[in-house]
Order: sequence, then C-alpha cells, then structure tokens
Amino acid sequence: MDQRETWKTRAGFFLAAVGSAVGLGNIWRFPYMVSEHGGAAFVLIYVGMMLLVGIPVMVAELHIGRSTRKSPVAALVAKGGPSLGLLGGLFVLTGFVILAYYSVIAGWCLRYLLDSFSGASLHESGAYFERIATGKDALLFHAVFMGMTIAVVACGVTAGIERCVKLMIPLLFLLLGGMGVWALFLPGAAGGYAYYLKPSMEELLSLDTLSAAAGHTFFSLSLGMGVMITYASYLEQKESLLKDAAVISFADFGVAFFAGLVVFPIVFALGIQDKVGESTVGTLFIAIPEAFAKVGGAGKLLSFAFFLLLVMAALTSAISILEVVAAALMDSLGLKRIAATLLAGLAITLLGVASAFSLDVLSVSDAVAGTVLLIVGGLMISVLVGWFDQTVRDELSAEGKGVTLFLLISLRVVAPLLLFLVLSDAGPKAVEAVLGLLR
Ligand code: PHE
Repeated sequence: MDQRETWKTRAGFFLAAVGSAVGLGNIWRFPYMVSEHGGAAFVLIYVGMMLLVGIPVMVAELHIGRSTRKSPVAALVAKGGPSLGLLGGLFVLTGFVILAYYSVIAGWCLRYLLDSFSGASLHESGAYFERIATGKDALLFHAVFMGMTIAVVACGVTAGIERCVKLMIPLLFLLLGGMGVWALFLPGAAGGYAYYLKPSMEELLSLDTLSAAAGHTFFSLSLGMGVMITYASYLEQKESLLKDAAVISFADFGVAFFAGLVVFPIVFALGIQDKVGESTVGTLFIAIPEAFAKVGGAGKLLSFAFFLLLVMAALTSAISILEVVAAALMDSLGLKRIAATLLAGLAITLLGVASAFSLDVLSVSDAVAGTVLLIVGGLMISVLVGWFDQTVRDELSAEGKGVTLFLLISLRVVAPLLLFLVLSDAGPKAVEAVLGLLR
C-alpha cells in the first residue's frame, strides 16, 4: 500500500483544521442563530457547549484519527469492529448531504462576489437575492463552487489542501479585521453591539436555545462527521491533542464572534433588526448588500471584500467535507485520489441540485444533516471514546490528572446526557420538517 500522506508542517494541519471550522457557519449561520435565539443568550450557551462538549469531542475525534491513521470508516472499524463501520458510513452520508446544500450557499457568495464589480447585487438586494438564490443561476454557481472544491481536493493533502489554506486563512483574518474596523464607525453600531452582547434571560433558559446551540457547536467546529478524524489521520507528531482542539475551537469562536461585531452594527445601522429577528436563510444576503449600497462608491469594494471573505471561508470548509467522502472511497474501495474525488464531487453536485431549486430543501437539509446527524455522530463518538477506547487514557496521560478527569467525565457523562436531551428536542423537529417537505 502507498505510504499515507502527511501534512508538510504542523502549521499546515492547524490552518486546515481552522479552515474547516471557520466557514459559512461563522459568518452566515452564527449571526443568524444569534438573531433567532435571543442575541447574547445564544452566544453564552454556545461558549458553554463548546467548552463542555465541543472541545472534548474534538479531542476524541483527533485521537481516533491520529491513533489509527485511517479515514473515518476504516478508523472506526479498527477501533470497534465491523459494526462501527456503519457509524463511519453515517459520517460519509452526513458529509454528502451537508456539502450538497453548503455549496449552494457558497455559490450565492461567489455570485455576489462577481456582481460586486458591476454593483448589480447592491441595489434592490431583496429582489436580487430572490432572482439568484434558486433556479438555473443558483445551480450554475453551485456547480462552479463544487468544481473549485474538487480541484483542490484532487491535488492531495499537501499540494491541494495545505497550499490552499496557507494562502487563504491569513487573508481571511485580515479581511475580517478590516471589516470589523469599518463596522465600528457605522451610525447605529452601538445598538447592534448592545443587542449582540446583552442576553435575554428567557431565551437563556430554553431547551430550544440549548439544542440550537448544540447543533451549531458541531456544525461550526466541523464535528460529528469525521472531518477531524480524517485531518488527524495525516498527522504524525505526538503533540497534545487537547491544545490542538482548544486552539482550533477558540480560533473558530473568535471568528464567529468577530463576524457578529461586523454583522449586527450593519443590521442596526439599517434599522432592519426586526426583519432579521424573523430571519430566514437569506436575510443576511439581503441586509448586508443593502448596507454596502448606502456607503456609495466604497460599497462595491466592501461588497467585494465581504464576499471574498465568505467564499474563502466556505472553500476551506468544503474541501474538508469532500476530503472525508473522498478519503472513505479511497480507503474502502481502493480508488485513486483523483477518481475518488471526482466520483464523490460529482455525486454531491447532483444532490445539490435539489437545494439549488428549493430553499425549503436547503433549510431542511441544514436541520437534518447540519444539526441532528452531527449531534448523533458526536454522541456516538463521545460514548465510543469515553467508554470503550482504552488507548485514549494513554494519549491523555501527558495532560495532567485534572484535565484528563474533565475530558473523561465530559465524554462519558456530560456530553452523552446533554446531547441526548438535545436530540429529544431537535430529532422530532427534524422529522417534522422532512415530513412537511414531503407533504
Ligand atoms: N464548520 C464549517 C462552517 O462553520 C461547516 C462544516 C460542517 C464543515 C461540518 C465540515 C463539517 O462553516
């Protein structure tokens, strides 16, 4: 068998993992969740979830990947026998469904990016969004975005993924920083910050907020479907996985938090906070360009910068999802990288046609795969590593007793109970959503 590829540098692994985590989830989905779930209350619960569940599950995934050096299906079989291959299969399926709609949204971003030059996206942005969000145009840009994703993954771990993230992640941080400074000077910025940073107690205590936050933790940190397993399978050094997980998670949260500091002042400067409150997937795509239109000449430039940011964030996430599916095909069917990537990429592009033609399919896919299936995956991983994987103790022994105890308690008890509770709320809702779609 070929020697398994490894990251060229440790920084390459970090940037790839951060690139996977930082995506549309941070810049589009996080502000949208915040406005749907009580502003700052959601932010607080999210941080709690990240610390109690997200980071431990990420350690567990990194451990599975690095200790087996296999892609998710093979790694889980190696850990627990053939029946666990089913769980690996669930990961692949989840990635499949997520990337299919994720790429449609990324396609919108690409379209907005190109139309920034002419300014077409800036005026009558509501009508513009309606025109491009579904139908042939959406399909075309979805296909182009998938083409870009396939091209990167087909080039391999170092020549494709690592090279792409080394270029894009620093640029992404720079652009976001610049946008944050711009937003600071908007009239009405203070109202935006206040809404964003002052929690509503009612929402803080609801199961609905808890389950939205749990789902979003998994989505935003790219957990529950084998991305971190796959990326860690290309690692060879023996360094602290906890440190890795903490750095990746905080970088991810930092970007999401900062994106909120850009988005909410814009929304409040425009006075459209009520519209966002009854938010749909498209609200930000309408609100933000409207704000750009108001600044006059610099608007096109701002729009270009903002959508470039989104496209880069989306691409570095999409490649991680395609890598999971492609790596599974390589490991289990023995396909070569290029064949596996093309096969997976084309199949996902086809599945995405449904979301490109219907916003309802898109939202339901997000509720089912982007929330419930990730939670199911995370729940299984925490139980598997917490209760049945003896090797994780050796791995953690270097971390000190207190930390090891915390991680084990989280994986064994806290994460499973919390996720089970959350599933009791999110599961039936997702089933209802699917039935609604079929009706
Ligand atoms: N974490 C990515 C984002 O925030 C999305 C993603 C989900 C990527 C699941 C990989 C796996 O946009």
